[in-house]
Amino acid sequence: MPVIGSKELVAWLPTLLRSKSVNFPEIAYPTYRVGAILAGASEAAVAISPEHWPPADLTWVNSPANPTGRVHSDQEYLSAIEWARANNSILVSDECYLEFGDSSTPTSILQYANGNNQNILAVHSLSKRSSMAGYRGAFLIGDKDLIARIREVRKHAGMMVPLPIQKAMTIALSDETHVAEQRARYNARRAKLVPALKAAGFQVEYSNAGLYIWCTRKESDWDSVSWLANLGILATPGNFYGDLGKSHIRIAMTATDLQITEAAARIITAIKG
Ligand SMILES: Cc1ncc(COP(=O)(O)O)c(C=O)c1O
Repeated sequence: MPVIGSKELVAWLPTLLRSKSVNFPEIAYPTYRVGAILAGASEAAVAISPEHWPPADLTWVNSPANPTGRVHSDQEYLSAIEWARANNSILVSDECYLEFGDSSTPTSILQYANGNNQNILAVHSLSKRSSMAGYRGAFLIGDKDLIARIREVRKHAGMMVPLPIQKAMTIALSDETHVAEQRARYNARRAKLVPALKAAGFQVEYSNAGLYIWCTRKESDWDSVSWLANLGILATPGNFYGDLGKSHIRIAMTATDLQITEAAARIITAIKG
């Protein structure tokens, strides 16, 4: 089912499904929480392992993750599915960075459903894979009954994807070459920046896939952001993604190759000087 932008879907899915309670990862893209608030649902920021997840109508997982670049293991997916089945929760996997593996190869939740997609959805986006963020092209795959239910509400709520955008999405999805090129580009940028950050005392965590480097110097995120800002480098404070991120920063690989090379050089010069 094509949907307008995966952000819009993340923000509105709990409303479309009339969810009363929503779980999302404790270090996460903020829109999961915003979606719960818009729906008037209760919210819980939860660990990767479902051991202590509260019961919820809707549970989000995200691999590769924003902001950490963490990739779910087979066992983590299987445990989430097992928990969702036992707790009758709709389980939605945000896979918008799926194609951007680096030191880990990401997989889709649908691979672990053993042919039974009931209550399981995967969300994909053309924004990252094909650098088409301005098209707002994304889609849902999974439980066909659940998708039929969402489509039924959307018939009245709107947010259908215009046909020209659907055609453009089909063309982009039919080609893997540009995706491989983009993946190589992001990974080369990460490979350039990581050694400079490490030399400057940052500890890089996860960052195995996706668009980001997640790192810490065991200081306040704002201190790290300021240190980089003084070098003309913009990073995001980890607390934007939850309290657990407050001594981390997120660095995006979306600057140009030239800017990333320059950023690495400035960091090295700063620590030498
Ligand atoms: C985890 C995650 N999900 C969804 C999105 C939304 O992307 P889009 O709306 O462009 O598909 C983003 C954007 O940064 C994201 O990081």
